[in-house]
Amino acid sequence: MEALTLLLQRRSCAALGDPAPEGEALETILRAALRAPDFLRLRPYRFLLARGDGRRRLGALMAAAAEQSGRGADIVARAAGMPLRAPLVVVAVARHRPHHIVGRLEQQLTAGCAVMAMQMAAQAQGFGGIWRSGWPMFDRGLHQALGLDNDDQIVGFLYLGTPTALPAPPAAADPAAFITEL
Ligand SMILES: Cc1cc2nc3c(=O)[nH]c(=O)nc-3n(C[C@H](O)[C@H](O)[C@H](O)COP(=O)(O)O)c2cc1C
Repeated sequence: MEALTLLLQRRSCAALGDPAPEGEALETILRAALRAPDFLRLRPYRFLLARGDGRRRLGALMAAAAEQSGRGADIVARAAGMPLRAPLVVVAVARHRPHHIVGRLEQQLTAGCAVMAMQMAAQAQGFGGIWRSGWPMFDRGLHQALGLDNDDQIVGFLYLGTPTALPAPPAAADPAAFITEL
């Protein structure tokens, strides 16, 4: 797919089924993540892959975390099934590397760019995906259950698979509305 077409026509897709990207396709997606802009190449990220039964394990951890942090019964009930909405869920983690020049925000932005790079690499290969957050992104109990450090921050759950329904084309937007000339 031509680069500008991908940039301008990219769409998120929430309706995802098998197959998930795997093998070389998944490797390409992960390589794209590692090409995210990265000040002083600190590589301030980590990616947890949940596929197959791994999605069930992630869902069980989410349900336990929801219960532990006192969320409502409906949220607890829904949590276990959340990772089952796609055949592959990439938990993208900003792994903070204390540094006197590169701050936390810059490092988290790198991890966020990696999420978008993965989504684009997936779409370029005919897959679809959606970047999700919600309460699990901020739940420290879930971070702990996933073995993350206190300083780590989940920056997204990237759901990937094969689109089962095509999203509508992107709405036209006028850049002028968001521009201020200095
Ligand atoms: C950091 C971040 C978190 C997001 N979290 C969610 C989410 O939890 N649920 C959701 O439906 N969309 C979420 N979105 C938005 C979707 O990923 C997507 O961008 C949106 O549905 C618009 O679709 P489009 O990307 O095709 O324009 C999030 C986006 C970002 C950047």
